[in-house]
Amino acid sequence: MFSQLQHPPADPILGLSVKFKADTNPNKIDLGPGIYKDEAGNTPVLACVKAAEKFRVENETSKVYLGSAGSALFNDKIASLILGDHKVIRENRVRTVSTPGGTGALRIAGELINKTKPGTTIWVSNPTWANHQGVFKAAGLNIETYPYYDYENKCLDFDAMVEALKQIPAGDAVLLHACCHNPSGMDLNKEQWQQVAELAREIGFTPVVDIAYQGFGQGLDVDAYGLRLMADSVDEMIICSSCSKNFGLYRDRIGACSIIGKNAASADIIGAVMVTVVRVNYSMPPAHGAALVETILSSDELTAQWHGELQEMRERIAGMRQLFVEKLVENGVTRDFSFITTQNGMFSFLGIDGDQIQRLQDEFSIYVVGSSRVNVAGLSTSNVDYLTQSIAKVL
Ligand code: LMR
Repeated sequence: MFSQLQHPPADPILGLSVKFKADTNPNKIDLGPGIYKDEAGNTPVLACVKAAEKFRVENETSKVYLGSAGSALFNDKIASLILGDHKVIRENRVRTVSTPGGTGALRIAGELINKTKPGTTIWVSNPTWANHQGVFKAAGLNIETYPYYDYENKCLDFDAMVEALKQIPAGDAVLLHACCHNPSGMDLNKEQWQQVAELAREIGFTPVVDIAYQGFGQGLDVDAYGLRLMADSVDEMIICSSCSKNFGLYRDRIGACSIIGKNAASADIIGAVMVTVVRVNYSMPPAHGAALVETILSSDELTAQWHGELQEMRERIAGMRQLFVEKLVENGVTRDFSFITTQNGMFSFLGIDGDQIQRLQDEFSIYVVGSSRVNVAGLSTSNVDYLTQSIAKVL
């Protein structure tokens, strides 16, 4: 049966981790996958998560099935985390299912759209996360792109984005990154969100908002500003969220797919259909990560601790952005990289070419995604000199 299969190409992001692990150079630097690292290069379990795990070990009484939607408490807590005290929650228009990570949420969103209208077109930003197209294609959707990042001027190509959005037929879906755009780090400002929200309402496309980095940009509420504004404007939308980064629960695979319906009755139907989509995929989501997040968000003390830990991660990344640019100048790079300090979250494009990216890997053991995306959280005060000197050499 399988003899006709060909070996697939390595994953553009996760494939780098495999090479990095095998590299024996003591100076190696991993700027690949979007994983937070501390000053020592580690990704420790958050203290609030450790506390929640202790609580869970002591208080868990059963491993019985939770059902396809996952934990109702987690789902309520996560809807409030992303939407705040929004009218769509008060109007009982939100239905959430827990999913295996943010990727699971995107897949469920894609399949729900495809079940509603097979072969629907979803528009994704150019560029977007390397896995978005694959996930939506696997769910049966047709993919198109809208302009987003201006590679030449290292900024948002907002006029081109708006022009493209104006041409989108009613009934299509449009994927938007809530914050910390992956891979460019360029986010919409408040006025731009307003324009996009108005377009969504006027044109009638369905926004699918991916929020995988809430808390890594400007803060938990600011990072959700755009999606909350969007929820004010449109009758229906989908939100895919992840607890991988902001709770550091990467391998526990916990995220959520939240649907906003026109009214409570319509939300009931969409929620019920979404549950059937889950049932035929993986029956029900893993419970552990959800239990930790609901424990943290149900406790004022643990929530405050989490906010502190998230702030520390966010501020370290922002500090590394500044230091990176300063050290590039100090180490003789004349090209202007100051745009890195204006971007949000873990990622920025260096804007260097494929040969230079390959030389960084082959000669200096520095691992950058092929698009020139770097994970700024992989920088530290101890590797930034080696990194910037190496960049200076390949430039
Ligand atoms: C990334 O973009 O690096 C992360 O979201 C990890 C992944 O799964 O690709």
